[in-house]
Amino acid sequence: MLKLCVAACLVVAGVSIPTDPTVTQVPDYFQTSYGPFAGVTKAGGAPFLAQTNPIYSQPTYVANTPLVTTLPISGEPHDGNIFDWMGTLTPYQPSPDGFGVDEYPLPPGANITQIHMVHRHGSRYPTSNSAISGWAKKIIQYRSNGTVFSGELDFLNDWNYQLGQAELTARGRQELFDSGILHWFNYGKLYDSASKIIARTTTMVRMLQSAENFLNGFFGPNWTDNATLQVIIESTGFNNSLAGNDMCPNAKNTSGSDAVDEWTALYLQKATNRFRNEISGSLNWTVDDTYNAQSMCPYETVALGYSPFCALFSWEEWQGFQYVNDLNLYGNYGMGSPVGRAIGLGFVEELIARLQGQIPNPPEDSIGFNKSLDDSAATFPLNQTIYFDFSHDNEMFSMLTALGLTQFGEYLSPTKPSADRSLIGSHIVPFSATFVFEIIKAPGPVRENRSKHCGESVYENTSEETTYIHLVINQRTVPLGQSISACRQRDDGWCEISAFIQAQKENIVKANYEESCFGNWSIPAYGEIRDGAIPKNATS
Ligand SMILES: *[C@@H]1O[C@H](CO)[C@@H](O)[C@H](O)[C@H]1NC(C)=O
Ligand SMILES: *[C@@H]1O[C@H](CO)[C@@H](O)[C@H](O)[C@H]1NC(C)=O
Ligand SMILES: *[C@@H]1O[C@H](CO)[C@@H](O)[C@H](O)[C@H]1NC(C)=O
Ligand SMILES: *[C@@H]1O[C@H](CO)[C@@H](O)[C@H](O)[C@H]1NC(C)=O
Ligand SMILES: *[C@@H]1O[C@H](CO)[C@@H](O)[C@H](O)[C@H]1NC(C)=O
Ligand SMILES: *[C@@H]1O[C@H](CO)[C@@H](O)[C@H](O)[C@H]1NC(C)=O
Ligand SMILES: *[C@@H]1O[C@H](CO)[C@@H](O)[C@H](O)[C@H]1NC(C)=O
Ligand SMILES: *[C@@H]1O[C@H](CO)[C@@H](O)[C@H](O)[C@H]1NC(C)=O
Ligand SMILES: *[C@@H]1O[C@H](CO)[C@@H](O)[C@H](O)[C@H]1NC(C)=O
Ligand SMILES: *[C@@H]1O[C@H](CO)[C@@H](O)[C@H](O)[C@H]1NC(C)=O
Ligand SMILES: *[C@@H]1O[C@H](CO)[C@@H](O)[C@H](O)[C@H]1NC(C)=O
Ligand SMILES: *[C@@H]1O[C@H](CO)[C@@H](O)[C@H](O)[C@H]1NC(C)=O
Repeated sequence: MLKLCVAACLVVAGVSIPTDPTVTQVPDYFQTSYGPFAGVTKAGGAPFLAQTNPIYSQPTYVANTPLVTTLPISGEPHDGNIFDWMGTLTPYQPSPDGFGVDEYPLPPGANITQIHMVHRHGSRYPTSNSAISGWAKKIIQYRSNGTVFSGELDFLNDWNYQLGQAELTARGRQELFDSGILHWFNYGKLYDSASKIIARTTTMVRMLQSAENFLNGFFGPNWTDNATLQVIIESTGFNNSLAGNDMCPNAKNTSGSDAVDEWTALYLQKATNRFRNEISGSLNWTVDDTYNAQSMCPYETVALGYSPFCALFSWEEWQGFQYVNDLNLYGNYGMGSPVGRAIGLGFVEELIARLQGQIPNPPEDSIGFNKSLDDSAATFPLNQTIYFDFSHDNEMFSMLTALGLTQFGEYLSPTKPSADRSLIGSHIVPFSATFVFEIIKAPGPVRENRSKHCGESVYENTSEETTYIHLVINQRTVPLGQSISACRQRDDGWCEISAFIQAQKENIVKANYEESCFGNWSIPAYGEIRDGAIPKNATS
């Protein structure tokens, strides 16, 4: 026994840790136990909805589903639901209105031959960047030295903070598991049960939890027989195409937050005045306090099933909350950001590589991924029919920016939201959002105006085999031709594959990667950048 231990010991800082001699050492990029780059997380309190759920609706009971959506919200329309308007904190929902085109069935004789998916992690607790837990601590401190809340804030007198940190909530696990099942229904046949695929996520706890729950939903509990999970280091300074911010030193040199602050001060002014009348004591309640209180609603809801904060805000104020997120996406990760394209570039380079079956090979000054991983077939295989990648809201939005989807990049005013804007964060990157690129092989060219040829063949009168790419975000088609003219204004939103690949190669250049990420420039004011990159030769 002693002999065995000596033979199989690791020595770490002078301490001997016995290891299991039957387990061979797995390289870091295939290790799915939480390692040094997992990030800090904290478990949250357990819910007790059966005891704490107030009964607000008529008749006396409505089952929670599991999220409570029956709170009385001032100004809410009949078919409205505030949980659809929480920006990137919105629990998963299919895109409710689509992106400007109808959905079409696959024409007879055509086949889906490949899918490339990017999946956001599911509903989670606040991250370490969030001001929420500090705010909660402050409220409780003020309470203990004499601040008293009244009126609609009365509940704050005995409210406690129960949220954990950065890991998935039960709702988040459910979203990913359900998504695995949904995508199994949609694409299960594409999987060849004789070979294992590589799926990619990052080292952070919620990213691993998301990938594992999804794969469990897709393949079942023995999913490790079918997929090897590859875990890319997510930490500042490391190259990671699924977390492109970490490899772009200028990633935070953006001015979206100026627009966010301007808008927040506007849309929450009335609520702030309202609440100030319901506080006695030394607490000087500001707009920031109001914003933190509003954020508690989505966070408590996905963690505990119910939040008393939700009903503090009107329908209009929830629309305002959504817009905060839209300004952040546009100004910090979208066409309004000098690094919008750069942060998402690695994914575009990898997509081109996978579509062409060649390892990514962009210009030396535009590498947006980890070369050591992508140069190897073991860690960047090119022979799969199914590709699953997991990422984050902001970085996924930057992927759309890098793909040149200007339809999500119209200028957003910091003072006046346009109701018909196409950038609505909760429709694009809610929790557990999915982007799926379907590759479709058709026996002939499919008519552009499919709706005009009802009853006739959907094919043009030639029989040249044609391949298309079809982007589906949260279960709805994104019309690629709206931004990429070579894709044409097709009814079905598809794009002929070679036109798409050509446009994406041009997008690598448009990211102006080296200058945007490494250049020494001063931060342009909000509104100055409109094409997601620092203009060429802007710095000396
Ligand atoms: C109450 O506590 C807060 C936070 O610790 C402190 O800043 C404030 O001065 C205290 N107020 C009173 C009246 O003690
Ligand atoms: C997963 O792999 C196992 C072992 O090779 C195989 O028996 C099973 O059918 C595969 N699952 C699916 C869904 O194909
Ligand atoms: C999962 O794998 C285990 C061990 O290989 C096997 O005993 C079990 O039957 C498998 N379960 C399913 C549902 O395939
Ligand atoms: C690339 O990935 C490997 C494997 O995880 C890691 O050791 C290396 O540090 C990474 N390189 C960069 C530049 O991030
Ligand atoms: C309360 O906070 C606001 C905003 O930060 C500030 O302008 C104001 O002077 C503060 N009032 C008191 C009484 O401290
Ligand atoms: C990491 O990214 C930088 C910046 O694009 C690039 O210069 C470097 O070669 C990359 N290294 C690896 C290992 O991917
Ligand atoms: C891809 O090729 C590798 C190496 O030849 C092989 O191990 C793997 O099973 C193949 N994967 C698929 C999905 O065909
Ligand atoms: C689609 O798949 C069927 C069945 O495998 C095949 O007969 C047909 O030729 C395929 N169509 C194209 C366009 O490849
Ligand atoms: C499709 O319809 C649009 C407008 O309805 C028209 O402008 C376009 O020329 C048509 N395209 C084809 C190929 O028929
Ligand atoms: C389609 O092509 C065939 C053979 O080239 C021709 O006879 C027929 O008239 C064409 N039909 C239409 C609707 O253009
Ligand atoms: C960046 O530019 C500023 C202003 O032009 C200059 O003062 C500074 O030295 C430059 N820094 C580097 C590292 O080039
Ligand atoms: C841009 O970001 C880098 C890295 O965080 C920082 O050192 C630099 O000061 C920033 N530039 C400006 C103008 O803020």
